[in-house]
Amino acid sequence: MRIDVISIFPDYLAPLELSLTGKAMAAGLLDVGIHDLRDWTTDRHRTVDDTPYGGGAGMVMKPEPWAQTLSHVAGLADPAERAGLTGGTDLAERAGLTEGTDLAEGTDLARSSDGTQATTASATDAAAEAGEKPVLIVPSPAGAPFTQADARRLAVRSHLVFACGRYEGIDQRVIDWAGGDFDVELVSIGDYVLNGGEVAALVIIEAVARLIPGFMGNPESLVEESYEDGLLEYPVYTKPADWRGHPVPDVLLSGNHAAIARWRRDQRLIRTQRTRPDLLAGLPDEALDTRDRQALTEAAREVEPGGPGG
Ligand code: ADE
Repeated sequence: MRIDVISIFPDYLAPLELSLTGKAMAAGLLDVGIHDLRDWTTDRHRTVDDTPYGGGAGMVMKPEPWAQTLSHVAGLADPAERAGLTGGTDLAERAGLTEGTDLAEGTDLARSSDGTQATTASATDAAAEAGEKPVLIVPSPAGAPFTQADARRLAVRSHLVFACGRYEGIDQRVIDWAGGDFDVELVSIGDYVLNGGEVAALVIIEAVARLIPGFMGNPESLVEESYEDGLLEYPVYTKPADWRGHPVPDVLLSGNHAAIARWRRDQRLIRTQRTRPDLLAGLPDEALDTRDRQALTEAAREVEPGGPGG
């Protein structure tokens, strides 16, 4: 999978080199390019924002640097050239850069010897061959909530591009324009407001990358995870069996695998009922059997006033 991230704070994306995503890059499963939006501005101050039409607080990100960067990462021609607006002036030339300076090149986090440009083009070619557009993900508090189902859906795409906005956001015309060449998704990672899309991009990339086949050392650990089947995870314990007077539940030491599986299932049901009743309510009827419902009824009774636990 190829991932390109566009930001005015490219250093924010450095953690991608750590841990499992870094290993996935080293193993060639993941190829990441980080691009500084300001490299695609043409004025001396490298301006990326301007005042909002219609008035109001804050600044809005200007459309042209975005169109230039997005065209580059998707391997498209200069957008102005495509629109017939220029004779195809090279942006680098317009920026007054000397010949040979590769303005187009982002910081390639991949350990491969390929240049960013070549890798981007090949990822885009792969996407095109699969009859796919690259996916443009625009993190935004106004986006659709990001879920595990989205992570699964995105994990099988070949090219993801993240447009990390700052200030009051990106000029809407960029989002509309990009729909021609990308599958565009506005995505929120939660009902709170961050200063920009970078942290959200990191969250989404980690959730997606760990689902790429071959990414996790032990793929079985994906099977019983929270959200995979609509239930939260069961609690886990390790040695010692008694820690500061807190014992591990007896059943986990019993060696009775059926009883352990039942206990874990009950814990998942009870946790979900207490913490995320909305998830439980959203499950199809057939997701819970009679024994599951019994466990839930008993747990609910235990917390009722006057009940055994109340
Ligand atoms: N940018 C700012 N807040 C955000 C959020 N909650 N989710 C995604 N992107 C954001």
